[in-house]
Amino acid sequence: MKKLIINGQHELTGEIKISGAKNSVVALIPAAILSDDNVTLYNVPNISDTLALIDIIKLLNGKVEYENETMKIDTSQIENKVVPENLSKKLRASYYFMGALLGKFHYAEIYFPGGCNIGSRPIDFHINGFKKLGAEVTIEGNKYIFKANKLKGARIYLDFASVGATINIMLAAVKAEGTTYISNAAKEPEIVNIASLLNNMGAKISGAGTSEIKIEGVNHLHSGVIDVIPDRIEAGTYTIIGALLGKNLKISGIIEEHIDALLSKLKEMGVDMIIDDNDIIINHPKEYKPINVKTLVFPGFATDLGQPMSVLLTQADGMSIFEETIYENRMGHIKYLQKMGANIRVNDRTAIIIGKTPLKGEEVVATDLRAGAAMVIAGLIAKGTTTVNEIDHILRGYENIVEKLQNVGADIKTIEE
Ligand code: EPU
Repeated sequence: MKKLIINGQHELTGEIKISGAKNSVVALIPAAILSDDNVTLYNVPNISDTLALIDIIKLLNGKVEYENETMKIDTSQIENKVVPENLSKKLRASYYFMGALLGKFHYAEIYFPGGCNIGSRPIDFHINGFKKLGAEVTIEGNKYIFKANKLKGARIYLDFASVGATINIMLAAVKAEGTTYISNAAKEPEIVNIASLLNNMGAKISGAGTSEIKIEGVNHLHSGVIDVIPDRIEAGTYTIIGALLGKNLKISGIIEEHIDALLSKLKEMGVDMIIDDNDIIINHPKEYKPINVKTLVFPGFATDLGQPMSVLLTQADGMSIFEETIYENRMGHIKYLQKMGANIRVNDRTAIIIGKTPLKGEEVVATDLRAGAAMVIAGLIAKGTTTVNEIDHILRGYENIVEKLQNVGADIKTIEE
């Protein structure tokens, strides 16, 4: 079992370069199979979710070359096969093969997806969307079967602006007959990135990034290229670390408008930042004002940054409130923060955090990906040694996290026991 060992309280100086976005690349790779030719992705992060998707592409008879952040996927020989449980369970985003295989072959068999245990995470909006496009959906044990004679454009309204459902419906609709409208679509930057690749491949999608997306079906998708956008959650995580420990710490390769909500909250707390084009230079202040944070869909405060942010709130002078509105269960890290000395009361999806409390090194667990990021942050500011267990969750989403932190002066290492 791999663990992280962190000796805390080192100031961090230097530069951290942000990688390509996990939540984009995990949809861009399945989207590639809609091409009858080949697809090239640039700025691909080397995280375990990427590697798990390559395995699925290879299973489907695609060919993948992946070197120096560039991935070339030859999709000319793609075949339709059952996506087995051992592959689908490795990550949430395996579910994008539902939309992609259905869109390409009008048939898909795929086992239930995996992913972080942060709530019940149903996929009813995806399924209802596929049905509106003309698919029949059945469940056999742990497997979904999607079948359609043909897919026809439809008007699809989402009860909630779900990122996954918006992307999956785009994938299924892009080659359907006629026009599909998704209303109350998710507006996250990752959706724009996926639509841009599909349009580059010959699709006709407009409105991505707004709550009304129009998809005019086309018969054929050719080769395509795209840059994976910078990971706004990774950028946000390191910016929070900078707010706690940065001494002229530079976070480079960000898109400011993707993390506006976080930056605005950090300014409210009194954090010193200079933002210049795609970089932030950040210095930790002596004290932090307490604030309230409520997670929302984009452009609101990202749910994936709520757990990392809660660690910063333990260092503010007074009472802060952290409210999670997207998932039922994003408080898995709190008991470990309490163990380290934080004063936090949790009531359902709300945490009341009273600071400032010094944290001390402890043995803790990464209960999910962003909880793991929160534990790393806590370990970096704690006095003494923190051991983070179950770090596979963290490696699913943060490229080279140990090296990136070591390079700016953190005392962190991986051990295998
Ligand atoms: N929901 C439903 N039914 C559905 C789909 C969603 O009830 O059919 C609910 C979910 O249970 C949740 C809410 O709607 O309560 C939002 O879910 P959404 O579909 O937007 O999330 P997702 O597509 O499953 C992606 C990211 C998450 C990120 C969310 C929100 C991927 C692979 N995952 O999940 O990333 O939190 O969007 O931005 O893109 C992470 O990176 O740590 C992570 C969990």
